[in-house]
Formats: sequence, structure tokens, C-alpha cells
Amino acid sequence: MIIKEINSRYSELAESDCCLSCGGAINYAEPGTGEVCVDLGSGRGTDVLRMAETVGETGFVYGIDISDGMLEKARRNAEKFGITNVSFVQSELEKLALPDKVADLVISNCTLNHASDKQAVWNEIHRILKKGGRFVISDIYATTAIADEYRNDPVAVAECWAGSVTRAEYMQHLERAGFATVEIIEESAPYAKGNAEVASFTIAGKKDSCGCGN
Ligand SMILES: C[S@@+](CC[C@H](N)C(=O)[O-])C[C@H]1O[C@@H](n2cnc3c(N)ncnc32)[C@H](O)[C@@H]1O
Repeated sequence: MIIKEINSRYSELAESDCCLSCGGAINYAEPGTGEVCVDLGSGRGTDVLRMAETVGETGFVYGIDISDGMLEKARRNAEKFGITNVSFVQSELEKLALPDKVADLVISNCTLNHASDKQAVWNEIHRILKKGGRFVISDIYATTAIADEYRNDPVAVAECWAGSVTRAEYMQHLERAGFATVEIIEESAPYAKGNAEVASFTIAGKKDSCGCGN
């Protein structure tokens, strides 16, 4: 139900110009030449195309999204700009259609809050990162737990607020996935969204070079 609603809402938004981000992950990500990068919830593909230019011909960027409309728009944008070192993959965040240890860098902007099983998503991020690989993620969290009536409402989740968890829960998912230290790069003051109070932050971390955890 939730995925169906997300597909429908974001397919409708694919052709609009409205800003769908909640932070500046891309501005802190610093992809390097030759690196393999992944954008979770790549939307219209803007951040994927930016990273593709930076990693160059020897690098590659995957955009992951579930929405038919967003994937179509992103693929058209890549074609329009003649960018070929990218692939837009239809996949749920909880079960990424990517191999183990493929990525040097995982980014995401305002997407993880939609996932029903956030622990599974963080486990997947850990799985696809190479040893020593890093993530930079912008997302929202709820200042107090979202009431069940909204948390399970597909429309409210797709609207980018009802799926959010508290900051403490968020950090617990990261730790359980194997990310021992997390840097908070930017964090907003709380603000109202839907029927909740949320805040946005951009966080960064690394998979141990021993590849342990999880
Ligand atoms: C708020 S938009 C952000 C898009 C883009 N990152 C940006 O900043 O413009 C969230 C995106 O995540 C995708 N998405 C949401 N939930 C998802 C899920 N469970 N699995 C895969 N993609 C998902 C949506 O289709 C949408 O394109």
C-alpha cells in the first residue's frame, strides 16, 4: 500500500519543478574521480548526474528509486545531457538491487523517512558499501514518536513526514547496522510538517576499513 502511494505521488511530481530535498547531502559528498556512487531515492536524477560528471568516465553512479515516473524522468535527463556512466535502477530501499561492497559513496536526500523498515535500509547501506566506504545522508526525524494512525497511513508517509522516526531511534538503526560513529553535518530547528513536528539533518559516516559490524 505504502509503495503504491509513493509510486503514484512521486510519478505525479516527476514533471514538476518543486524542490523535494531536505538538506544538502550532495554538497558535502565530495565524490572522487573513478568512484562508484549510489543515490537512494534519486528522484529526477539531478544529484546522480552531478556526481557522474565528477567521478568521470572511470567512475559510475547508480540512482535507486521506486517511482516509475521519477525513473523515466531521470533516464530522459541522462540521455538529454549525454551522460552514460549512470544507471537508474528500480528497487525498494529495504532490498537494494545492487551487489555487496559495490559503493565508495552512498548519498540520499529526503528519502529514508519513507521506508517501512528503516533498520533493513541501514543494513543494506552497510552491505553495499566497500570497506572504508562512506555515506552522506539528508533526512528528517520526528521530535516525538509519530502516532500509529499516521505512521501507517500511506498518504501521510508519502508526504514525507509520517514515516519519520525519532532522532534516538534513527541513531540506534545506524549503530545496529554497524556504523559506530556518525557526524552531524547540519541540523535544522524543529518545524511543523503535516501533523507532526520534525527536524532535518545531514549526517555522514563510514564503514570500518575492516568491514565489520552488522
Ligand atoms: C522527497 S523525494 C527526493 C528526491 C531526490 N532525492 C531529491 O532530493 O530531489 C523521495 C524520492 O524517494 C523515492 N522513494 C520513496 N520511498 C522509496 C522506497 N521505499 N524505495 C525506493 N524509492 C523510494 C521516491 O519515489 C522519490 O523519488
